[in-house]
Amino acid sequence: MFVHGIDKDLSLKLVEMRDAERIFELTDRSRDALKEWLPWLDHTKTVEDTKSFIQSGAENFALGKSLNCAIIYRGELAGIAGFNEINEAKQTAYIGYWLDTQYQGKGIMTRVAKALTDYALLERGLNKVEIRAAVGNRKSRNIPSRLGFTEEGVIRHAEWLYDHFVDHAVYGMLKSEWGSVKSQ
Ligand SMILES: CC(C)(COP(=O)(O)OP(=O)(O)OC[C@H]1O[C@@H](n2cnc3c(N)ncnc32)[C@H](O)[C@@H]1OP(=O)(O)O)[C@@H](O)C(=O)NCCC(=O)NCCS
Repeated sequence: MFVHGIDKDLSLKLVEMRDAERIFELTDRSRDALKEWLPWLDHTKTVEDTKSFIQSGAENFALGKSLNCAIIYRGELAGIAGFNEINEAKQTAYIGYWLDTQYQGKGIMTRVAKALTDYALLERGLNKVEIRAAVGNRKSRNIPSRLGFTEEGVIRHAEWLYDHFVDHAVYGMLKSEWGSVKSQ
């Protein structure tokens, strides 16, 4: 089982089927806040939908194509983060994340994104980590900014969110940059 300790309060572990009830509970109670920026809430109406997400994540993990982690904060599952896609040909991993509203504003996701970037660039030896966030999603954009990622540009109409398109800001970190940036 993949478990990655970050600090005394925080760790990441591979999402398992037995996490489904808790993940669905958080999804449901944070539904309105998550729906502002994530496209899958209308497809996640019951715990069975969460189980399908876990199942397809496990299949993609087995193929080396993604890695979905549960964020464990002080013993409780607080949200999800990981690599929505790992592209070995491009040597690039794409980070995605969400937190239950009760766990926001504590610096959790910045520490998690830092640990995932360490894992991708230093342990797994990939060349690049990307984080994409809707241009208006300031809280999400703050995370790569805090970690010293380079803002590389904007992809117009990158995502359909229920009834409108959103543009995505793209942030990137190269393996050659990470050692010096993270020690600052
Ligand atoms: C994106 C998201 C994970 C960001 O959550 P967050 O709590 O703002 O991010 P962090 O956990 O890194 O916490 C940072 C906040 O904690 C505060 N904080 C408190 N203690 C801190 C610490 N020790 N270290 C760093 N920050 C700390 C920071 O000041 C910051 O608050 P601010 O934005 O008011 O300045 C969250 O808003 C979310 O889940 N949104 C919905 C889903 C989503 O948009 N996903 C991303 C799609 S691209």
